[in-house]
Formats: sequence, C-alpha cells, structure tokens
Amino acid sequence: MRALDELSEIVGAPHLLTSADDRAPYEVDWTGRFRGSAPAVVRPGRAAEVAAVVDVCRAHGLALVPQGGNTGLVGGGVPLEGEVVLSLRRLDAVGPVDAVAHQATAGAGATVGAVQAAAAEHGLRYAVDFAARDTATVGGTVATNAGGVHVLRYGSTREQVLGVEAVLGDGHRIDRLEGLVKDNTGYHLASLLCGSEGTLGVVTAARLRLTARLPHRVVALVAFDGVRGAVEAVAAWRSDLGSLEAAELVLEPGLRLVCEAFGLPRPFDRAWPAYVLVEAAAHHDPTDDLAAAVRAVAPAAVAVAPDRARGAELWRYREDQTLAVATVGTAHKLDVTVPLAALTDFVEEVPRRVAAIHPAARTWIFGHLGDGNLHVNVTGVADGDDTVDELVLTHVAELGGSISAEHGVGTAKRRWLHLTRSAAEIAAMRSIKRALDPDGILNPHALLPGE
Ligand code: MLT
Ligand code: ZN
Repeated sequence: MRALDELSEIVGAPHLLTSADDRAPYEVDWTGRFRGSAPAVVRPGRAAEVAAVVDVCRAHGLALVPQGGNTGLVGGGVPLEGEVVLSLRRLDAVGPVDAVAHQATAGAGATVGAVQAAAAEHGLRYAVDFAARDTATVGGTVATNAGGVHVLRYGSTREQVLGVEAVLGDGHRIDRLEGLVKDNTGYHLASLLCGSEGTLGVVTAARLRLTARLPHRVVALVAFDGVRGAVEAVAAWRSDLGSLEAAELVLEPGLRLVCEAFGLPRPFDRAWPAYVLVEAAAHHDPTDDLAAAVRAVAPAAVAVAPDRARGAELWRYREDQTLAVATVGTAHKLDVTVPLAALTDFVEEVPRRVAAIHPAARTWIFGHLGDGNLHVNVTGVADGDDTVDELVLTHVAELGGSISAEHGVGTAKRRWLHLTRSAAEIAAMRSIKRALDPDGILNPHALLPGE
C-alpha cells in the first residue's frame, strides 16, 4: 500500500509494524474484550514525525487510532474498525522538571509512574495516581482525562495539564508548553484536548502541574456496617480532615475475592458490608488527626497501617479489585458517577436489577467514594450482550449521574452518550470535531455516536 510506504519513510522501517505477530499486542485491549485488526502500527519517535504521519493519513483518507500504554477500558485505543494504530510510546522523555514553578514537561509516551519518579527526584510529586501507573502514559491519560485515587484532593488529569504540544486532525501543530498558570487569551485548547479521546488531535507532550511532596502519610482500612455509614464518614472527613488524600470504597464481596484470588489475609476477624481505604498525607504526621476523624464517625472496625509496607498491603484490598475481578471472567466494566445522595441506594439496587435479568451474573462494585465514582463490574454475562450495560447506564442517567466518570466513552459507551449529554451538547461536540478533524481520520469510531 502506497500510504504504508510513505509512513515507513517517515518513521523508518523498524517502526512500522506490519506483521501479525508484531501488531498483535496493539490490537487488543487489556481486558481482552476489545479486539481489532490494523493494517499497520506506526511508531514515530518525534513530534515532527507524528505531524508527518497525520499528513499522510489525511492525504490517503486513512483512519488512525492514537494509542499510549493501552490500559484503556472502553475500547477507545484499539483498531476495532481497521484503523492504523499510532503508538506514541517512543515519545517517552520526561523533563525538564522545573522545581521553581512546580511543573514538568513529559512526552506522550512517558508513563505516569515515570513522571511521578522524576517529580520525586526534585522533592515534588505528580498527583495523578492509579493502579496502572507504570503502564499508562501521559498522552493516554491526557486524552482520557484520567482520574484515579487522588481526585478528591487534586482533581483529574485536566486540572494538572497547563499546556500541550499536539498535532490537530487538520494537520496544524500547537505548542504550548511554557506552563503559564495564568493565561486568559482565549480558548484553553489543552483542556479541550483533555478528555477528547484522540478524536481532535494527537497529544505529543504535556506540561504538567506538580504538587508539594507530603513526607508524612498514613493509611487505614475502616469497616462500616453499611454503605450509608461509609458515605457519611467520607463526607465528614472531607470537612474535618484537611490532610485527606484518598477515600476508596471496597465492598465485602470484592474484598473476599481479592483475598481468595491473591492469598491475602482478611483484614478483620469478621466480615463487614463496606470498607473505606482512607489515606491522609501532610507536612506533619497526620496519624493523630486521622485517628480522631475516624473515631468521630464511630466505625465498626479500623486497621491502621503502622508503616509504609503495611500501608501498601492495605492498598491491595482496593487496588487489586480489577485484577481479582479479571480472574472470574471478562467483565462488563461500567465506570459511572452517581450523585452522593443517591449512591447508597444505587449500590444496593444495581446488583438486584442485574440479577433480575441475569440470575447467574455477579456484580462487583468498588470505587472512589470522595467523588461519587463507582466502578460497576459485571461478570457472567456474554461479551456481546449489552443488556446489563444498558440497565446500569440508564439507571445512572435517571439519577442524574454520568455514564463515564474517568475511563471515557471510547467505542463501548458512545451509543449511550445521549443519556447524560444533551442533543445540543452532542451537536456542539460534532461541530468541534468537524473543525479540528475535517477529514474525520482521528479515532473516528470513538466518543461520538454514529450520525
Ligand atoms: C480503578 O479505579 O481501579 C480503575 O479505574 C480500574 C477499574 O475500574 O477496573
Ligand atoms: Zn478508578
């Protein structure tokens, strides 16, 4: 194919992968649920090469799927409709870190973990954090506006992105990596690209906000006799515990599953319906503050980690939920926001509604309690059967929530976008898409529903 020859000339033959074996890891997502086929995987090593790749694809009308660490969960980064995969992983430079401005520049292919490590070398910290930190990349997390476990204190990826270098779908390059915190000169294009899921432009680097490193950190697992108590406790901690860093919900079935799947000891001598993994971090030791805040909500039981190693063990009850669910089967993964006032009823109601249509299915719920983001995972329902997705997302919409809290819409949820975005909003998004990607080559099957 002429276009592939041109791509090969741009990136060099070793970086245009065309054999089935070489392409295979780029063609399927982490869950194995989304699998496609690409004519080629193109791996540029510089931003100028990315721009040249976009130009060739525009000229030949070839659709592209930008891909970072391929940790996405909604089928937004794999070539489901025969697109070329544009892998940004070679753009993995981190730095320079500006310790005065508390900022760093990172290439799209740098992992979140690499940015965290570079920040730590300068006594600083990159606040975005989640279990896939050592695989997920800056480009992917910007494109999906990734959330994670620290959103309640620092916000999502969008709040950390001060500027981007990117190639738009129309071939224009934008370069705004100066890191000006205040710059009111029109549309904030970095914010627009953040969460656009590779449909408007290809991010090649980002200027990221770093935060102060808080040397004292304490972790506790707090048990409750119901989800309501957990929700109320986190609301109280958000008011009273200034050092609150994370508040993560785990339910008893998920905790039991993690213990069974990975041979972990149970954290308490008996089971409780709900648990909150709470972390506090500060310049001074926050243990006493955390202990007082926990006592004030009268929990059923508490396990406080006396040191970092035990803290990491407690985190496993929460962070290993995804891996544990994967041992049961390929899950329908629904990443939703539910208004906090409706969250308790939602957690009780959803497994009932799922069981009513799929008696053999299992519903696993965990998530980020501070911001109302629940991960509803359903196993035991065939891959192609989306009745359970429809049921959960419709319920979320009725409650005034969002069908995607942090994973994005991808290809998996675009047919439900109308549930929580109005016709006017979708029309505005389409206009933006047409303006920035007039040839419709950038991830054309993700995010927006087919017209
Ligand atoms: C999490 O919070 O663990 C992630 O978003 C991953 C998941 O939903 O499986
Ligand atoms: Zn999450």
